[in-house]
Amino acid sequence: MRLLALHTALVVLLCHLSAVRSWGLAGHQIVATIAQTQLHPLVRQHLCSILPNFTQYPSIWPSSPQGRPNTHCHLAVLAGWPDNVRFRLPWSSKLHYVNPTDDHPPQHCTYGEAGWTSDDNILHAMVNYTQRLTTETGYERDLALRFLVHFFGDAHQPLHLTGRARGGNDIWVHFEGRKSKLHSVWDGLLLNKQVRQLANYTSRLPSPRIESGLRGDVYDPYIRWILKEGLGQPAIKGQEPLGWFTNEAPEWPSCGTEAGRGLVVQQTGQSVFNDQDPSAVDDTDLPICPYYWTKPMHPLVCEYAFAHPVPEWEPPSDDLEGGVPEHPPSPPPPRLPLPELDTPEYLGRIDADKVIQRQLAKAGVRLAAVLNTLLLDEATRAVGGIMPVDWLDEGRS
Ligand SMILES: *[C@@H]1O[C@H](CO)[C@@H](O)[C@H](O)[C@H]1NC(C)=O
Ligand SMILES: *[C@@H]1O[C@H](CO)[C@@H](O)[C@H](O)[C@H]1NC(C)=O
Ligand SMILES: *[C@@H]1O[C@H](CO)[C@@H](O)[C@H](O)[C@H]1NC(C)=O
Repeated sequence: MRLLALHTALVVLLCHLSAVRSWGLAGHQIVATIAQTQLHPLVRQHLCSILPNFTQYPSIWPSSPQGRPNTHCHLAVLAGWPDNVRFRLPWSSKLHYVNPTDDHPPQHCTYGEAGWTSDDNILHAMVNYTQRLTTETGYERDLALRFLVHFFGDAHQPLHLTGRARGGNDIWVHFEGRKSKLHSVWDGLLLNKQVRQLANYTSRLPSPRIESGLRGDVYDPYIRWILKEGLGQPAIKGQEPLGWFTNEAPEWPSCGTEAGRGLVVQQTGQSVFNDQDPSAVDDTDLPICPYYWTKPMHPLVCEYAFAHPVPEWEPPSDDLEGGVPEHPPSPPPPRLPLPELDTPEYLGRIDADKVIQRQLAKAGVRLAAVLNTLLLDEATRAVGGIMPVDWLDEGRS
């Protein structure tokens, strides 16, 4: 009886905590945590020379050659920080999204063909902060990494890729009976519901790499689920990893061929910035291509986010700057009943097609790939080239 009461109190407390917590934050932390589990161990350790020391977590892996317990610095700790400062740093506000010109989902979907409403957008920001991660030092480098982690998350939230009704911020709907903005449904409520409903993966996976990347959070089982059933990690010894995304995931970090990216290359071999070519933003030496990556994701806006029964209504003066609100949201349309989105027709499709899980996994895998590519040499030099033993094989037992 006593135990039951304690259990109930705990459940109530946990529910309370998760209601208070911003799930926009959870999405960012999940992306960062998935990335953390995919980092090379030396890169993971090396993050401590970039991030502040309060991001440190004890690591049960890799064990150092000297047998000392290691710590590593965790990307998730500061993953939400750019949202906290977007009003204090107003210039950063527009960098969380991109608004393609002439995009009006679901009737008319364009992504870059007609340009962008502003060049201060997430595509350029991702390139900029990737570059700065390699050139800045000290606090500036720390900031570059914080922004980068955050923008990888935002770029994989489909409603950050459209300006219609300010990325769905002006469209009111019901989700699980509660009034909400369409944007918030996608920022957190869908994910919140999936996390809440997951009953398995509460115990540890046999992978120290994965387990030492988790932080004891309410969404840990959800991350294990995506890693195990989505990416097939850790693999069973002697078997090919099998998962929902096993076939596509190896291609996620790829930027395709230069021809595929439509690079504009002058005869001198010098690339030029070309306003008319949306893929010009990818034209860098960096292991990053935000346009190439996000273009195939933009149809999610038309096919899922603005799908029936999302109302056609939007404010009369469609704010072209769009994205996430810089002023209070418009009031809902008078007398229109708000449609419920927690239905088999709307949410059922998103769940069945693993839309949310795929976006989070993609963002995490890509972020880790970029950090591994940019930081491995530096991280290896920092430890004098001493590699942890057997790190590639871990978990395969
Ligand atoms: C973290 O860094 C600050 C400032 O350099 C220092 O004062 C503090 O002692 C450090 N804390 C830990 C736990 O290392
Ligand atoms: C990044 O953006 C800032 C602010 O607009 C600019 O000053 C800086 O030169 C850019 N850096 C790179 C590498 O693009
Ligand atoms: C875990 O739960 C999810 C969602 O309910 C389900 O799809 C999956 O098959 C379960 N996995 C295992 C191993 O029980």
